[in-house]
Amino acid sequence: MAACFLREYTRPVRRAAACSANIEPSRNSDVILERGDTPLRRYFSSTVLLTTLVAFACPGLRAQSKSKDDRGHPWYQHAVFYEIYPRSFMDSNGDGIGDLKGIASRLNYLKALGVDAIWIAPCFPSPQVDFGYDVSDYENIDKMYGTLADFDKLQRLGKKHGIKIILDFVVNHTSDQHPWFVDSRASRTSNKRDWYIWRDGVGKNPPNNWISNFGGPAWQWDERTSQYYYHYFYPQQPDLNWHNPAVADTMFGTTEWWYRRGVAGFRLDAVDALFEDPNLTNDPVLPGVDAYGDPNVNHKYTHNLPEVHGVLKSLRGVADKYDAVLIGETWTDNVAQLRAYYGADHDELQMPMDLMLTGLKFSASVFRAHIDAVNASGEWPVFVIGNHDIVRSWNRYGDGTHNDEIAKDMAAMYLTLRGTPIMYYGEEIGMQNNDPQRREDVKDPIGKLGWPKEKGRDGERTPMQWSDAPNAAFSNGIPWNVVPETYKTYNVANELKDPNSILHWYKKLLALRHTEAALFDGSYVALNEKDPNVLAYLRKSDGEAVIVVINMSATPQKVMLDLSSHGLNADSVKTLLTTQSSLRNSSAVAQITLEPFAAYIARVGKSRDSAHR
Ligand code: GLC
Ligand code: CA
Repeated sequence: MAACFLREYTRPVRRAAACSANIEPSRNSDVILERGDTPLRRYFSSTVLLTTLVAFACPGLRAQSKSKDDRGHPWYQHAVFYEIYPRSFMDSNGDGIGDLKGIASRLNYLKALGVDAIWIAPCFPSPQVDFGYDVSDYENIDKMYGTLADFDKLQRLGKKHGIKIILDFVVNHTSDQHPWFVDSRASRTSNKRDWYIWRDGVGKNPPNNWISNFGGPAWQWDERTSQYYYHYFYPQQPDLNWHNPAVADTMFGTTEWWYRRGVAGFRLDAVDALFEDPNLTNDPVLPGVDAYGDPNVNHKYTHNLPEVHGVLKSLRGVADKYDAVLIGETWTDNVAQLRAYYGADHDELQMPMDLMLTGLKFSASVFRAHIDAVNASGEWPVFVIGNHDIVRSWNRYGDGTHNDEIAKDMAAMYLTLRGTPIMYYGEEIGMQNNDPQRREDVKDPIGKLGWPKEKGRDGERTPMQWSDAPNAAFSNGIPWNVVPETYKTYNVANELKDPNSILHWYKKLLALRHTEAALFDGSYVALNEKDPNVLAYLRKSDGEAVIVVINMSATPQKVMLDLSSHGLNADSVKTLLTTQSSLRNSSAVAQITLEPFAAYIARVGKSRDSAHR
């Protein structure tokens, strides 16, 4: 278990995969970066308009502005969330960096896609050492992204479109340029000294053996006051001292400041690193070294300490006053750990992310086991398949040959499961990882430090691909990060014209989520649990049921489905969505043959017996 923590913030897919007892390590994870792309199959046709209309004709179940629906579901359970990495989404002023006005100009796109809430990665003033995750002022907007007035406009426009805004709250650390830290490091007696973690060394050595998650010791010597300060990430990101009530109060106040401005919630960054052992116990050393050449350690005394739950309860107390949602960046090794983040009394995070899914190999039996475990916990799941810290899902789950089909399968699965999904920008068009080829091209500092074993996270943060125009129409200037060549086929404009594109598949799935009551409300019932190739399940609510069947193998699969024991009639189905044209008009599922990687979704009628009952 110890090795689990080593790379959690860099390429956690490998970490998560290797750690959980019930999770098989990904066979793909070591080769994902070498994979080439698979050309998207394209069939241009006039059905585009039709599918778009169908997709958005039934807005009845879209995220509500009232906080709970008639059945008691809070708004965030209805919603589809979408992560925006603001540097890379849309540049409005030609400086090559995405910005708030750029996001505002694309809200139409997001609304048409079926998104209800956007989480914007940090856009606060920052020296940008960690691209905004080093905040120097929590109550403002960085000039490169715009102004507070731009933010307010975005917020108003979001309201008009029914899109809520979630900000990224960097709770574990600030920038070393934050006035609090500038004050803190000025003298041992400064007002803010105890806002950070300062300790004496042991002789000429740091206080203990703690290692930074981003390479090197976690202690930085500071000449002026002859002490070390602690940083779980870069030295420019000193950790806040959450044992100090003044720190806690100020941070709670910051959330309130944004809620009053209309923000609908926060994604809590690195929340599992908030506390460390005040006794500075050495972390257990493990065999081997990491990508940075540091000894492997189990971050036992700096990660996942129980004190975090007190802070989460307090943050929740503030959030509840504003009907806001708290999403956690919660890297866990098993479902029991994940469950703890909801709080024993459901008074902590409403949405701790299930990031374990990002580390699983693409396999029906592996996914089934995980989904079963998550559902058995009784909590409301939060499924995520990609983000700005891990290799793009297209590459990570893909087999190198059928990546487009697999991307559709992943969407078919995680967008129809019970729970709230959080998408990552560009996933809906099959954006691919594009790691730098040379060390001198790397922008993310961990990639420079860990080269070539760790190439950094530039590859999953490339500009959004809007069209096949220069720079993928992301910017009129020179984009801050390279646009991958694949943008010429994988882009929004092209895919909107292609009814079989990944984008259309996402749109149709998201529309179903908003129109099929069973898909958001229904229980999850696994079917054919012994089948190693085909993932099949029901989403079942009082009045109706939806069946999802996904062939996760490269060979055709015959599937026999006995639905009578569930009170359903396999001979009375209405196909809702499928990648397999021969099944489009199918009205029975008792026995179907699925082509390789085909996905099939249908509404199922009740059996006659059950109707009589
Ligand atoms: C989180 C962010 C990551 C950042 C780190 C330090 O893991 O997702 O991008 O580098 O925290 O703030
Ligand atoms: Ca810009």
